Amino acid sequence: MAILYHEQTKIFTMHTKNSTYQMQVGAYGYLLHLYYGSKIEGQELTYLLQYNDRGFSSNPAEAYKDRTFSLDFLPQEYSVFGMGDYRESGLQLQNTDGSFDVQLTYKSHEIYQGKRRLEGLPASYGTEKEVESLVITLQDEVTKVEVDLLYSVFEELDTITRSVQVRNKGIGTITLEKVMSCCLDFMNRCDFDYMTFYGKHTLERQVERTPIRHGKMSVESVRGCSSHQQNPFVILCDQDANEMHGECYGFSFVYSGNFKATVEVDQIHQTRFVMGIHDTGFCFTLEPGEAFVAPEVMMVYSEQGLGALSRNYHTLIQEHICRGKFKKARRPVLINNWEGTYFDFTAEKLASIAKDASKLGIEMLVMDDGWFGVRNDDYSGLGDWFVNTNKLQGGLSKLVEEVNSYGMKFGIWFEPEMVNEDSDLYRTHPDWCLKTPTREGNRSRFQYVLDMSREEVRTYLYERITAILKEANIEYIKWDMNRHLTNVYSISLPANRQGEVYHRYVLGLYDLLERLTTENPHVLFEGCSGGGGRFDAGMLYYSPQIWTSDNTDPIDRLRIQYGTSFGYPISSMGSHVSAIPNHQTGRVTPLHTRGVVAMSGTFGYELDMNKMTEEEKEEIKEQVAMYKKYYNTINYGAYYRLTNPYSSERFVAWEFVSEDGKNVLVNFVLTKPEHNPPIINIKLQGLERNKRYRVAGTEEVYTGAALMNAGYHLKEQFGDYTAVQIALELYE
Ligand code: GLA
Repeated sequence: MAILYHEQTKIFTMHTKNSTYQMQVGAYGYLLHLYYGSKIEGQELTYLLQYNDRGFSSNPAEAYKDRTFSLDFLPQEYSVFGMGDYRESGLQLQNTDGSFDVQLTYKSHEIYQGKRRLEGLPASYGTEKEVESLVITLQDEVTKVEVDLLYSVFEELDTITRSVQVRNKGIGTITLEKVMSCCLDFMNRCDFDYMTFYGKHTLERQVERTPIRHGKMSVESVRGCSSHQQNPFVILCDQDANEMHGECYGFSFVYSGNFKATVEVDQIHQTRFVMGIHDTGFCFTLEPGEAFVAPEVMMVYSEQGLGALSRNYHTLIQEHICRGKFKKARRPVLINNWEGTYFDFTAEKLASIAKDASKLGIEMLVMDDGWFGVRNDDYSGLGDWFVNTNKLQGGLSKLVEEVNSYGMKFGIWFEPEMVNEDSDLYRTHPDWCLKTPTREGNRSRFQYVLDMSREEVRTYLYERITAILKEANIEYIKWDMNRHLTNVYSISLPANRQGEVYHRYVLGLYDLLERLTTENPHVLFEGCSGGGGRFDAGMLYYSPQIWTSDNTDPIDRLRIQYGTSFGYPISSMGSHVSAIPNHQTGRVTPLHTRGVVAMSGTFGYELDMNKMTEEEKEEIKEQVAMYKKYYNTINYGAYYRLTNPYSSERFVAWEFVSEDGKNVLVNFVLTKPEHNPPIINIKLQGLERNKRYRVAGTEEVYTGAALMNAGYHLKEQFGDYTAVQIALELYE
């Protein structure tokens, strides 16, 4: 039993393998948070609560003369705005009479095995053996608003998920102005670092780590999607936590729209963390009987540092977020023509790239942007999902048949959520995009955003994508999204409900993805948004891999993939070898280095294979073979960050250990050549101390203890950006 309830004390306790979470229905029925941290069994933690008469901290009406009970400093399980807790709130709503008061007290609870779906939203899932759930219902006795706090415990993965459902059980309309999914108070503690993952187009998920301070620190997106700029994954950790030591709390939002993750230190040095849909631009009307479901936050706890935290997230996402055939099936090594040809291609050109690639072990050709409508640059065509037979003479099926005849699968690019003004779709349905009727909308990449909240828009997209899938043997879809939202207005909703559009857009997107992915289980979906602009656990529910960045420079990728690895598995990171000089940075790096970096992800190529020399093709063949050999180790093994690319100037190293512990792959990239260099002995992780490991293809044998404590000795390297890949095999 991972979830316990004690009737007399009204204490709820949730245990995972290494953590404990406790809360209590306290005085006057308020649900107070007691503890979340390292495992504590057989102990009520109510003694931690401290009641004081503090100045300027109000007391709820029922407390009357008791001036020591205040929501302003007591740890809340789910805080509300307007009733004396001045910290960042979880819930803010406006009642029928215009007031903001909401007073939530315990009503009932339910504990059950397994986990129910969140209506219309992606969320983690598991069997009755893997997960246990708790629903605590709070209610406002005056307005009859009910709030369900939903918890699910994945014991083995040190994971507790949270979400919230608000129901209007009253007789009048209410307006939700803020519904956060997770609110967590750390009593008497503010010695955390906040780790966040910021970025921009072509440089996503850069790691930033700062001590928290009094007041609030937030990461957020109001761009309509999770964004390149901030990622909906954050960590609170001990200030001395590192890869192997220290307490860490991870929070991953299973949502692809606007979000906010706020950490606040209050007047008496306590910390509150709140995560959910951003309240800016949000306002949701609930008629009597209606409910609102807030997306899920997946919390992972580790007391053994950031490495263990990440490895739990990797398994959690692979096993309990990703779905379908490609959760486990080996995904094809692909070649994408984008950087190889951009818009300038024909069927013959693509076929010849596929033919050359097939000889090297590459398994799928992905035809990127430009195959539809009139699309020779990015000013026209989006929305017209009809094959351009001037480019693809003989049609799509002829090309796909030819590609298939080389033993290659065929994949295709779509950007379904967008429309160009210069398109038949826009000419026919100018009102289908998000736009206020009274003014011209903002363009970005010269395109508008379709109103995904509307059924007819989704039906059109569903029908066009389905028709294309039927036209030929298509086994992969790259689902792109190349601008952020502005002028967020839907003509299908009345004026007072426009605050619902951001969220309804995301729900519409999920609805379409759900239909397409379940009806086409043989098709592998790869998410994309100008690279990694929508890299979140919500999208991973529909597409097990996401194009990590439009930046394919392996040296920049070291940091991008490093940052991404904190919250997302290696198997989710689309990663390709591209041509030199690199198209984004102009940097020249060896083909070997490009291969080593790209194969730490879902591997592929993004270049014109016809332009590669015979020698290069031979090397590519070896890379593909290497990737296939170590596929399981890389994608399903344990991943270890051996260096921090922000502090280690000279080289970056990371390691994979296969699930059975028999294969180890260590990767080094020298980022700064140096004459007369210091020695590099890099300490490996995750090995068996007393077992011996042989360096593949050599007679070198080392014990696990030696490799982990004394380190692997990297021989002196020479030249710009060289890379070394060492495979170790369990020897005895
Ligand atoms: C985005 C994607 C690229 C490519 C282009 C095509 O930028 O991230 O990989 O598909 O769109 O326009």
